[in-house]
Amino acid sequence: MVRLQAQAVAGEPKAQNAFALEGFAAEDPFCVAATNQPQTCPAARLFKKSFNLKHPTPGKKEKTMAEKQTHVQAPIVIEYLENCRDLVPVCASWSFGQWGCQANGSFELTQREFQASSRRSLPLTLVASEDRRPTGMISLSNCDFKGRPDLSPWLKSLYVHPFHRNKGTASLLVKRLEHEALRLGYERLYLTTESAKLLYTKNGWSEMDHVQTPYGDATLMTKILLRARMA
Ligand SMILES: CC(C)(COP(=O)(O)OP(=O)(O)OC[C@H]1O[C@@H](n2cnc3c(N)ncnc32)[C@H](O)[C@@H]1OP(=O)(O)O)[C@@H](O)C(=O)NCCC(=O)NCCS
Repeated sequence: MVRLQAQAVAGEPKAQNAFALEGFAAEDPFCVAATNQPQTCPAARLFKKSFNLKHPTPGKKEKTMAEKQTHVQAPIVIEYLENCRDLVPVCASWSFGQWGCQANGSFELTQREFQASSRRSLPLTLVASEDRRPTGMISLSNCDFKGRPDLSPWLKSLYVHPFHRNKGTASLLVKRLEHEALRLGYERLYLTTESAKLLYTKNGWSEMDHVQTPYGDATLMTKILLRARMA
């Protein structure tokens, strides 16, 4: 099993910026990314609050022991769901709780979809974790939006656990999924989003259309994956 340690880039605020894509081997079962924004971690915030700590002042050289502790954060590890099948019920419950229960879905069907996840063909699901705890997921699938059966494949089921949001996990999952798509020979991806258009725009996706999904008004987006641009 191969583990890759991504390099943190000094001064970059987000994990996706810190993720060293050069040398990244998409077919490797693991990707480990270092994040350098630990102060956004809810546990760290709570810790700081309970000790009545302020953000470190720029230029202030000495930090208290409590401040130093808030800067310790486990790396984000991304792996294939195929390699950690015990997490199938976790992914299914995230997906069913967020979307399936609002669209006449069934939990059993959702669970079967995740059970079918493979690394060699679609559907493919990636799971992010920190400190061996699952924190997020993303899938690549042949179908998602029924209104455009002519388009494929689709990025779908991007989800990050509420405790772990706003520290770059989603962007990291999107980038890794794009690499997986290229590895499988796909050069263009599609998605629909009701609320996270900005997140995808920041990751190089473009708007194609406005559509209706079972969850409301949505934007249909696309990204052309260019190998030269991925490095
Ligand atoms: C959307 C979601 C995946 C983002 O996860 P995350 O790990 O917090 O995202 P990141 O930390 O990588 O990116 C955060 C950035 O995206 C933006 N963002 C996050 N969620 C957003 C949302 N719902 N709408 C608009 N922008 C959003 C943030 O403003 C932030 O921008 P910044 O970098 O300028 O501060 C997460 O909120 C989630 O799971 N939501 C519920 C499921 C969902 O809506 N999935 C998207 C399906 S299309």
